[in-house]
Amino acid sequence: KTIYLKDYRPSPFTIDTIDLTVDIHADHSMVTSVMRIEKHKDSVGQKLNLELNGEGMELVGLKFNGEVLPNDRFQVSSDKLVILNVTHDEFTLEIQNKINPAENKALEGFYQSCPQLCTQCEPEGFRRITYFIDRPDVMAKYTTKMIADKKQYPSLLSNGNRIGSGDLPGGRHWAQWQDPFRKPSYLFAMVAGEFDVARDTFTTMKGRKIDLEIYVDKGNLGKTPHAMNSLKQSMKWDEETFGLEYDLDIYMIVAVDSFNMGAMENKGLNIFNSTYTLADEKSATDHDFQGVQGVIGHEYFHNWTGNRVTCRDWFQLTLKEGLTVFRDQEFSSDMLSRAVKRLEDVRLLKDSQFAEDAGPLSHPIRPSSYIEINNFYTRTVYEKGAEVIRMIHTLIGKEKFRKGMDKYFELFDGQAVTTEDFVHAMEVASGKDLSQFRNWYSRPGTPTLKVTSRKEGNEFVLDIEQKYPLPTVKVEDNNVLLMPFKIGLLDKTTKKEEEHLLELKNLKETFRFKVNGDVTPSLNLGFSAPVIVEYPYEVADLIELMSFNKDPYCRYEATQKIYDHVFKAEFYYFKANGKLNPDLTSEFKSAFQNLLKDESIDLSFKSYLLDLPTENGLSQEMIQPDFDAIHTVHGHLRKKLGLEFQDWFLKEHERLSKVSKFELTPKAFGERALKNQCLTYLVASETKAGMEALDKHYGNATNMTEEIHALQLYIASGVELEHDSIQKFYQKWKHDSLVMLKWFSSLAAYSPKKFALERIEKLEKNVLFQKQVPNYLRSLYLQFAKNNLHAFHDDNGAAYRFVAQRICHIDGFNPQVASRAAGAFSLINKLDSKRQTEMKAALKTIMDNKPSRDTFEVVSKYLAQ
Ligand code: ARG
Ligand code: ZN
Repeated sequence: KTIYLKDYRPSPFTIDTIDLTVDIHADHSMVTSVMRIEKHKDSVGQKLNLELNGEGMELVGLKFNGEVLPNDRFQVSSDKLVILNVTHDEFTLEIQNKINPAENKALEGFYQSCPQLCTQCEPEGFRRITYFIDRPDVMAKYTTKMIADKKQYPSLLSNGNRIGSGDLPGGRHWAQWQDPFRKPSYLFAMVAGEFDVARDTFTTMKGRKIDLEIYVDKGNLGKTPHAMNSLKQSMKWDEETFGLEYDLDIYMIVAVDSFNMGAMENKGLNIFNSTYTLADEKSATDHDFQGVQGVIGHEYFHNWTGNRVTCRDWFQLTLKEGLTVFRDQEFSSDMLSRAVKRLEDVRLLKDSQFAEDAGPLSHPIRPSSYIEINNFYTRTVYEKGAEVIRMIHTLIGKEKFRKGMDKYFELFDGQAVTTEDFVHAMEVASGKDLSQFRNWYSRPGTPTLKVTSRKEGNEFVLDIEQKYPLPTVKVEDNNVLLMPFKIGLLDKTTKKEEEHLLELKNLKETFRFKVNGDVTPSLNLGFSAPVIVEYPYEVADLIELMSFNKDPYCRYEATQKIYDHVFKAEFYYFKANGKLNPDLTSEFKSAFQNLLKDESIDLSFKSYLLDLPTENGLSQEMIQPDFDAIHTVHGHLRKKLGLEFQDWFLKEHERLSKVSKFELTPKAFGERALKNQCLTYLVASETKAGMEALDKHYGNATNMTEEIHALQLYIASGVELEHDSIQKFYQKWKHDSLVMLKWFSSLAAYSPKKFALERIEKLEKNVLFQKQVPNYLRSLYLQFAKNNLHAFHDDNGAAYRFVAQRICHIDGFNPQVASRAAGAFSLINKLDSKRQTEMKAALKTIMDNKPSRDTFEVVSKYLAQ
């Protein structure tokens, strides 16, 4: 069943308070819910049915205003409880129902993440705990009493403040929590289990002392300091940047191993995938450290953008997610390096979101319909959503943006609102008319700007045309996108650059600039708008931009364009001649050398500048990509560079090996990143010196960033599973499940095509592979499909059939993970006919298997291609 935004109606009933009692036993939990319910003001006096959502539970008792409700006054079905003909305008409903967390493998609602119990309610999991009006615009006050065995579940946690606790006969105990803030059901949480707890405090700007607690599996306390530090940084940052203070007396984070997504912002009780909580130098990469900081920030920032002001309905998801991603991006930029963070965010957007938006699942940041809302927690809603917020920030400026945020909370605190309300607040505070800008919310697809330039006298003239990808979007005059477009004009003689912020409002526009001499335009500085820019650059222009541009993002773009250009030339040479091009042009060599030599560049940034475009990115730019040829030519180009500049890479690798102290600073991140990058080129050179460097790097690695990188290079070089490098890692880390995830995913992503599939079938049977844990499923199947392109897209279709078969299996217990795994097939509309036919056949087997709603929605869109 498809749900449409245009059908939104307020709920005829609202729930004022809910008192929950959850009695936890080994084979079930008994839930008692007492709700104070009122009719919505527009429904007062009417006789109405009250519909409550509820799935996967057994109704045990039902009382209306304290009296048992007769059978003819209600109906229960597999997903609803309907109380018939309610005439009262206010009443109490008491429900008793039974659930079984131990059997809940979908990880929605109340479930077991062995051995603890926890919840995931966003977006529609609360209906698996008890019958409720499970939609975000129904905001109630909650009290929650939990009762359980004291030894097995010493910690009993829920939202808000603990208002009581005590012992009970039979070794049981209880704890009761009360959340003073109204909230939608998706923010409800409970946890029961035995943990180690890291404790700290934070004093707010008004001098209130907040208790901070991080709950982790026994033995993992040593991996919590980074998370705790990140939490305190987030709290301080939100006070300083937006004047937002934390509002409860306690903030808890619980790390669990079985979790469908990254983390969840439940009021006062965040629940996190352990991959985004636990980190130490030996077992976590720099990327992991940054991920923990970013996600801790993200969930913390939701307390205001998401919890205090929430979404009216799920079509508004980007209201909280786009805004909160924007906030976490800004936080990370302030904590680390702004230039590097921006580059990473744009890389992610282009690699994943642009691809999503060009494929069968393309949708606007505010979708207008869905079958299963879980399928819309996407790169588009999150990351493109953040870019839309960033454009507002650019258009009105930092100060007015801050005023707009203040206005937003002034107008909407405590309410469930829409993206329209947000834009309205920004408009009121800034005085800028954003009516045309609103088109971004309903527009799917990545726009392209076709830019050309000419010189007229002493004027430099830019002609800019907007193009939208989907022919189905009819562009009338009033729905052209408005966007900020930052440009720089780089003077070819003085190397000085002049910046301009343009506002594009029309399909075709011309801009004129007075200039003294010849200029090279640098377009979309800082990636001011999430668009594709086409401009007929000469390689010489790009080299100029790469060397002299001030804007780091555009410098990176220019180098990528040069690589792209070189790669394509090599690729067509290979296709035409059946052999690889042995040469490198001197122009390219000297450009690359200039990069190596430039000592003014921050090292993280340098390692990005040296990064060739990914096979993924290159495939996306081609129609009917030849994955094998891409893989071969890509490797060959890297090899040539590795050989040509071997001395430099060896020396730099050696120099960086002398840095011994482990720090979590941008400088240290940069040193490790560049050291790894040097090793990549050295190994690519396929020389003795390269292999020696690899052995040394691996043997001496004292942190995971360097250790895992070396392991991946061994795997990619084609060593057997039994090879020392792979086995040594396994033996060293088999007791750390987070590290084993890296071992599995590295093998899935980097194993050469000739044995990748066979190897994955072997890995699935490994005793450490946890068959029902989402992190493990992703580490094998999605890593393989998304990052081992030439192996997955083998045109015999074997890998397609294999992954489809695994999706069917996973769909039987965890639809959310299965539907995400179906993302393996996202390139379907780009494939040649042989691959497309094989892929369709594989997808049909999923359809024949009675898929879940989640998987059905995704697979049917792929098949419609
Ligand atoms: N609101 C969470 C976050 O972005 C994501 C939860 C999504 N969960 C899900 N099952 N779809 O931080
Ligand atoms: Zn979020």
